[in-house]
Amino acid sequence: MLNGKSILLIVGGGIAAFKALDLVRRLRERGAAVTPVLTGAGAEFVTPLSLSALAGQQVYRDLFDLTAEAEMGHIELSRASDMVVVAPATADLMGKMAGGLADDLASTLLLATDKRVLIAPAMNVRMWDHPATRRNAERLRADGILFAGPTDGNMACGEYGPGRMAEPLEIVSAIETALGQGPLTGRHVLVTSGPTHEPIDPVRYIANRSSGAQGTAIAAALRDLGAQVTFVTGPAVVPAPAGVDVVPVETARQMLAAVEAADPADAAIFAAAVADWHVTEASHQKIKKGANGLPELGFAENPDILAAVSQRDRGRPSLVVGFAAETEKVVEHATAKRARKGCDWLLANDVSPGTGIMGGAENKVHLVTADGVEDWPRMDKNAVAARLAAKIAEALG
Ligand code: C5P
Repeated sequence: MLNGKSILLIVGGGIAAFKALDLVRRLRERGAAVTPVLTGAGAEFVTPLSLSALAGQQVYRDLFDLTAEAEMGHIELSRASDMVVVAPATADLMGKMAGGLADDLASTLLLATDKRVLIAPAMNVRMWDHPATRRNAERLRADGILFAGPTDGNMACGEYGPGRMAEPLEIVSAIETALGQGPLTGRHVLVTSGPTHEPIDPVRYIANRSSGAQGTAIAAALRDLGAQVTFVTGPAVVPAPAGVDVVPVETARQMLAAVEAADPADAAIFAAAVADWHVTEASHQKIKKGANGLPELGFAENPDILAAVSQRDRGRPSLVVGFAAETEKVVEHATAKRARKGCDWLLANDVSPGTGIMGGAENKVHLVTADGVEDWPRMDKNAVAARLAAKIAEALG
């Protein structure tokens, strides 16, 4: 079921657009609200009137429509729904998405959204098989775009092969899966990620080599199991995943404030590489080199966010997970750290330069719990995240 969910449906220009009308009906039957967007080419195949009548809402068509823009700006429109669905997704729309173009309402919404995007491609088999479309599809998959279809079949053009749009019910089921009716549905999980930046003056800061890749993968894996994820992230290299509530911060103190301000969570995962110190009395003006000699920097310890949350008397998440980036005696240090901080689980990893783990695509972790240590094999950070998310779902029951 999709009760209470809101779908922004972009209808592209293809003969399969007629199936989009049935898709609207199926989505509404399941309790979803559908806001339709019709491309110029889409309007050649279905009328705005039939789309609007079935959706029970106005159809958005024009990027520069003053009335529509005054009611709901295109940025807001791209973010007000739970998910963006493109059906049919033409070769042209896929090309625009892959290239980051924004020359009409549909492509602008797709570029501006922070929600998950699912496309149902539909095109002639030769167009689907064309190297350009193959490249675009690969690019879109790497960008995290979800696909429903295309399937093999007879096409309106008389040819047979892949390129046929998935049936409305298949698209509905892909939407239901993506909107995460999973074991963590109804659970709130907090994830911290990325490095922190601790300012020295307005242009300089102290940072670390964290890319945010592992925290981002964990947030996405928890989302995929249905959790509502609050993602508190320092200035990471890797973009935040779609479909989570992003709270960007810069310093450790801001990260603590964001964590304290978040709604009560069932589980909290502290994957951020938080700086241990900040510069006391960071200068408000750029520090000049020269006459006054070398600058003297004073340091103060940052709040330990993981320890603060783990040791809360009230409002402690029932599962608190920390990370321990170590360069020697990994398990020994991690075991001591788990006890010291008071968290339930600690994922320890060796971040010595030779491992390529910090900033890299893979991770090798040891899961330290009250029951002992599990050594996980070296694997892709997404695989570590999926395994951790499954374990969290199991622990929360
Ligand atoms: O003490 P250490 O930095 O090694 O601990 C790592 C763990 O503690 C990570 O989970 C990190 O996110 C968390 N941490 C924190 N606040 C700090 C320092 C670390 O939440 N100030």
